[in-house]
Amino acid sequence: MNAAASAPSADSLRAALAGLLDGLPPRQAAQAVERLIANYRGTTPTDAPVLRDRSDVAAYAAYRMPATFEAVRGTLDALRAAAPDWAPRTHTDVGGGTGAASWAVAEAWGDEPPRTTVLDWAEPALALGRELAAGALDAEWRTARIGGALKLADTDLVTVSYVLKELTAADRTALVKEAARAAQTVVIVEPGTPDGYERIIAARTLLVEAGFTVAAPCPHSGACPIEPGKDWCHFSARVSRSSLHRQVKGGSLPYEDEKYSYVAATRFPPAPTVSRITRRPQIRKGLVLLELCGRDGLARDTVTKRHGPLYKQARDAEWGDSWPPEDEGRAGS
Ligand SMILES: C[S@@+](CC[C@H](N)C(=O)[O-])C[C@H]1O[C@@H](n2cnc3c(N)ncnc32)[C@H](O)[C@@H]1O
Repeated sequence: MNAAASAPSADSLRAALAGLLDGLPPRQAAQAVERLIANYRGTTPTDAPVLRDRSDVAAYAAYRMPATFEAVRGTLDALRAAAPDWAPRTHTDVGGGTGAASWAVAEAWGDEPPRTTVLDWAEPALALGRELAAGALDAEWRTARIGGALKLADTDLVTVSYVLKELTAADRTALVKEAARAAQTVVIVEPGTPDGYERIIAARTLLVEAGFTVAAPCPHSGACPIEPGKDWCHFSARVSRSSLHRQVKGGSLPYEDEKYSYVAATRFPPAPTVSRITRRPQIRKGLVLLELCGRDGLARDTVTKRHGPLYKQARDAEWGDSWPPEDEGRAGS
């Protein structure tokens, strides 16, 4: 049983991670992360796991897990708003690695978290994930290779977090189709970069073709209104920086913003979303500028004091929120 075990949350994950690099001199820990980053840059997709041994995996977990956890958490917040009465009883985390998405799922449905199966081809990642999660997650950790031969057991929820980038185009397609066959809800998260967004759009198309409805971020399941190559849909999650982060990246900010792109799609009809805020709201004197994606495409909205209570809500609104807030009509427009 993990000494830090308690209800899954950002804090309990951090507590579980805190001991990971104990005993490793700080310079050596930073070098392990730097090696890992270089590996990720140079050789993907690979035909063998990048996370080869305990120090690779400890570096990945300490350095990246808090950020991928927060990105999946942001995605699940949007999914839960669109499917408030739905809760998964079973969950499969494909390419789950050390379990960041599984922690986020367990936190999201904290009252009754699903039974999770984590699949990955990197044994050391599964071993460390199992260790971190002991006593905190109801999870089974199994070796599996993603590819044309992967068969998933039927499940309520499939998560695929920061994995598509590591796969060949053919394996990406096979995985998304298999996830759609096996699950009621599929959640896919990628880095919030132009190419991450393109992989999300390709996956979204496959999910819609398989009969799914997009629950978030899009307010519809039709074509994305963003002109290819002109922009990319992405969101941002704030992550507290550990001392390891500061050492590797320099700087003294206590946080960084993890940018991510995602799609959450369901076999059942989700609650309708009018539009979503697609950039950080710009607050000016007496007005808030919102960039939105709605059912009729991309739009800008200016909310002023004249709009009454909606103005206060616009000042509190965040990038990634749905808009307008539920049950609020526009006063005076
Ligand atoms: C960047 S990590 C993401 C881990 C975790 N999902 C997260 O969000 O932190 C990518 C994971 O995908 C796994 N992976 C990559 N290619 C795979 C394949 N062909 N079969 C199984 N797992 C694979 C890697 O071993 C690694 O654990």
